[in-house]
Amino acid sequence: MESSSASPKRIAVIPGDGIGKEVIPEAIKVLRAAAEAGGRQIAITEFDWGADRFLRDGTTLPPDAVDMFRREYDSILLGALGDPRVPSNQQGADILIGLRFKLDLYANVRPCVLFDARLTPLKGRTEKDINIWVVRENTEGLYAGVGGFFKKGTADEVATQLDVNTHKGVERIIRYAFDLARKHGRKRVCMSDKANALAYGHDLWQRLFKKIRAEYPEIESSHMYIDNLLMQMVRDPSQFEVIVTCNMFGDIASDVGAGLIGGLGLTPSGNIHPSKVSLFEPVHGSAPDIAGKGLANPIGAVLTAGMMCDAIGWPDEARRIEGAVRAAIREDRTTKDLGGTLRTTEAGDWLAEKVVGPSS
Ligand code: NAD
Ligand code: IPM
Ligand code: MN
Repeated sequence: MESSSASPKRIAVIPGDGIGKEVIPEAIKVLRAAAEAGGRQIAITEFDWGADRFLRDGTTLPPDAVDMFRREYDSILLGALGDPRVPSNQQGADILIGLRFKLDLYANVRPCVLFDARLTPLKGRTEKDINIWVVRENTEGLYAGVGGFFKKGTADEVATQLDVNTHKGVERIIRYAFDLARKHGRKRVCMSDKANALAYGHDLWQRLFKKIRAEYPEIESSHMYIDNLLMQMVRDPSQFEVIVTCNMFGDIASDVGAGLIGGLGLTPSGNIHPSKVSLFEPVHGSAPDIAGKGLANPIGAVLTAGMMCDAIGWPDEARRIEGAVRAAIREDRTTKDLGGTLRTTEAGDWLAEKVVGPSS
């Protein structure tokens, strides 16, 4: 992916729908400031894919998009997809799920870190208690799109949705979680499934987890059924450092994690293939309830740009971005969801200014 340290990093940007169009410009503002502070070059190309474009001319993900991203870009930054005018979420399915699948971005990494004790709804918890990375399988499971209708629209209708679990897919995500823990000095990995009910698909998860955990003896590995896991995350999140789970459960667990640290306005994510072009997006959606009002918190998108910096080999810029976010939260330079008074653009301006200062 990396050509030379001096050549600009080529970033494709898809703001998408709703608040995606508000938070991504702020993330780019902060990213540009961080790059400039670090003496880095960046080349940004924006794509107008999303509900507006779909409603205008039917375009979702153009057929050459995947090859183009692989050939011409170092990374992709995406806002959110989803619009009440498109109840089928066709553009979300084609663009977001489409890119995850077609670029084979099998690891969806969603860190949930409590930056300030004031932000959690739990009593007496600090960052040392809530610092969880959810590693979500991102290319199969219930999202594989295998299924169909029979006798649709009649009283005899049958609708199926197959849960696809492959040996390759399950093995690589469990291994990814252990490798991630090892690389970052995290001591605990918890695998979560529902093997007590899903006796075929999740039996495969059980067998592969047993095999792979033995290869990482220094890491404390455990298993929890997903219903218990979500309860335990709320009751005592300090038990968890890395959680690895299937596509659907990871989607849910990462929103629970967001709830523990101050809400969806804060959580970043990376859709990652370790050796291919990856896609970074905040965990939140297009938030139609607040879209267009200047209320969206840009921090999730800004931290997402920070995760992207790490992935493209800019660790100092990633640290700068995280430092600016921590300062904003500490000094209450935040949007309304976090108790602040700033509008989306003002919060972005503050972060962009902070990011060029000495990293904190
Ligand atoms: P959502 O994440 O858009 O919003 C859930 C709640 O969190 C809302 O009350 C919203 O106002 C709030 N919220 C989210 N992001 C925020 C931010 N940055 N600042 C402040 N508040 C924020 O989830 P939803 O309402 O279930 O879905 C809305 C649409 O987004 C749907 O079309 C859904 O399919 C789509 N969606 C897309 C993605 C994605 O593109 N990655 C993720 C989730 C949902
Ligand atoms: C997410 C979203 C998507 C998902 C939706 C919009 C399809 O909720 O990225 O968390 O379920 O993966
Ligand atoms: Mn989700």
